[in-house]
Amino acid sequence: MNSENDVLRVVGGKPLNGKIKVRGAKNFVSKAMVAALLAPGVSVLKNVPEIRDVHVVSDLLRLHGVNVDVNGADGVVTIDASHVELANVADVDTLSGSSRIPILFSGPLLHRLGEAFIPALGGCAIGGRPIDFHLATLRKLGATVDKEHEDGIHITAPNGLHGAKIHLPYPSVGATEQTLLAAVLAEGKTELSGAAIEPEIMDLVSVLQKMGAVISVDVDRTFRIEGVKELKGFTHTSLTDRIEAASWASAALATHGDIFVKGATQPEMMTFLNVFRKIGGEFDIQDEGIRFWHPGGDLKPVAIETDVHPGFMTDWQQPLVVALTQAKGLSIVHETVYENRFGFTKPLVQMGATVQLYRECLGSLPCRFQQRNYKHSAVIFGPTPLTGRDIDVPDLRGGFSHLIAALAAEGPSTVRGISLIDRGYADFRGKLAALGADFE
Ligand code: EPU
Repeated sequence: MNSENDVLRVVGGKPLNGKIKVRGAKNFVSKAMVAALLAPGVSVLKNVPEIRDVHVVSDLLRLHGVNVDVNGADGVVTIDASHVELANVADVDTLSGSSRIPILFSGPLLHRLGEAFIPALGGCAIGGRPIDFHLATLRKLGATVDKEHEDGIHITAPNGLHGAKIHLPYPSVGATEQTLLAAVLAEGKTELSGAAIEPEIMDLVSVLQKMGAVISVDVDRTFRIEGVKELKGFTHTSLTDRIEAASWASAALATHGDIFVKGATQPEMMTFLNVFRKIGGEFDIQDEGIRFWHPGGDLKPVAIETDVHPGFMTDWQQPLVVALTQAKGLSIVHETVYENRFGFTKPLVQMGATVQLYRECLGSLPCRFQQRNYKHSAVIFGPTPLTGRDIDVPDLRGGFSHLIAALAAEGPSTVRGISLIDRGYADFRGKLAALGADFE
């Protein structure tokens, strides 16, 4: 993409008003596409958003001989994994650094081919983002992991995968999905304790059950998987992207706007809705979606801590912080999922926000970053008028937050590197236009 296409010039200070539609969840759709690899048949996924991550996963599937048809307009992806073959390592390497999804190919490829080559991973720079839990899980299930290749990891399981007792040191979304995708066809039973139970994970469990898997979950977040011999293709409609829905809700608040988010659903957003209400935002839950608006008057400050589900999602934090710069008083945000997710606040401060970062845990949740050197708590003092400026997008959610800040700010802003936002926000330029934003 040339650099001109990668820049958005925004004139802020105008409320975002109107109706937009949010499709399926980025953090589910990509995993369901990987699940299709488990079955030698055809799978159909609906309500798929037109985002870059879908294309990265499609490309990686195709490199493994899988037939993928993406109908972007209708949001339907058809995957025929009847034939799977080893990909050329050099071809796979071209996808290095593009996403975190490739590591989830491990289990399905081990089942179908007995080996897998996983390119170096990408994803947002919001912390170290290691894959030690993933590799420990695969080893427990019987895989051999060779990390010697400089551009990726070679994994083999000549004797197949076998059920095991696994405990995650932290409820990682990816490592939970890794275990599910690897254990469904492993011989015998797998117990996964300390797992994550995000709605996107539960939708993946629904897909796997449709395919023929046997998976149950206990109240203490322990999954029990009874390996089956084979799986078949599925047809499934993705749950809505609750991160995108909350991002537009935050944009409504930050710009004094009124946005109807078609497709937004209440159960998955309950924790967000509580916080939105405490800040003073109004919402109306309808059959078709949720309307979010700023009712006028002062917004109220809040203290929040990010956490795994059913806590307040880390991915909701960044867009909401922009709205909190407009709340009257001191807000506190304790980020307990990623050690380094406040880098995006620096440009906000340059635009006029008052945000101070602390190494201390400003909250009461048990946090892995206590007594460590990470600025993972933020204190935001508002309301502070924001003024437009030049901004370089740092990561997906941080980037969208900068866009919201530019739309809320007085005067023009230049937001560079916006193609990063295409990773997770389908047609955000079209949606901005539908909401009356002033940009080019
Ligand atoms: N972690 C480890 N070792 C591992 C795996 C994770 O230490 O092997 C740590 C991470 O460093 C992090 C924490 O565990 O501190 C949680 O990471 P998790 O594995 O849950 O995250 P993920 O699976 O890599 C997914 C989403 C993220 C979202 C997180 C948390 C996808 C593709 N990504 O990442 O989404 O923030 O779960 O909900 O599903 C985004 O959409 O912008 C995004 C970053």
